[in-house]
Amino acid sequence: MTQDAVTIRLLHGEPAEMRDLQRVLEEAPMYANRITGVPPGPADAQSTYTALPEGKSYDDKFVFGIYFAGEMVGCADLIRGYPDFATALLGLLLVSEKRQRQGIGYNAYALIEQFIRDWCTCDRVRIGVVRTNEAVRTFWTHLGFDPTGEVKPYRYGSVVSETVVLEKRLSNKPLHPILGCGDVRPPR
Ligand SMILES: CC(C)(COP(=O)(O)OP(=O)(O)OC[C@H]1O[C@@H](n2cnc3c(N)ncnc32)[C@H](O)[C@@H]1OP(=O)(O)O)[C@@H](O)C(=O)NCCC(=O)NCCS
Repeated sequence: MTQDAVTIRLLHGEPAEMRDLQRVLEEAPMYANRITGVPPGPADAQSTYTALPEGKSYDDKFVFGIYFAGEMVGCADLIRGYPDFATALLGLLLVSEKRQRQGIGYNAYALIEQFIRDWCTCDRVRIGVVRTNEAVRTFWTHLGFDPTGEVKPYRYGSVVSETVVLEKRLSNKPLHPILGCGDVRPPR
């Protein structure tokens, strides 16, 4: 890793951002192959930007570009309060293949975790790892994620597998008790 810092930036769907997002997804073909059985497709940026779990609104969806040395080198998709109020779902964290294993994913995750902590509403982060992409489990283990025991069937095109659900509790730093923050309560 050089002196340059990894940064994350929320994307707003601007055409230039969407082009970068599409490029970054296309620069990770191994991931696409593992979870869809085919190389990245031309609409992947659009679907990453718009995909939403059932019952959630775009107020709770955050798509980030991950930047290094002035260039988008990865992306992340985060849902606040899913599947429950106290959980943040990290739907995707992806680094361009030519930039992998340089500490970018680790640093980007740290920034995303801080973003989650700043909500003061979520005390855990959840991810799903498809078994065909099992190689990345080590990455999540290093970050403090543990299996929840939940395993769900996964099917996408020709890929028939399972999703292993991992979770990280953010309890090592209690939710900040500052005024306004401690007042947040789940919706009734
Ligand atoms: C998973 C991913 C985001 C990790 O990002 P990264 O920038 O390559 O990871 P880092 O360089 O920060 O890795 C930190 C540590 O995690 C572990 N790790 C990262 N990728 C790993 C891999 N593919 N296999 C085994 N260990 C891995 C290593 O211990 C690594 O430290 P080391 O290189 O000093 O040994 C990246 O590999 C990626 O984008 N993969 C494709 C998309 C994907 O699978 N996302 C996760 C969906 S669940």
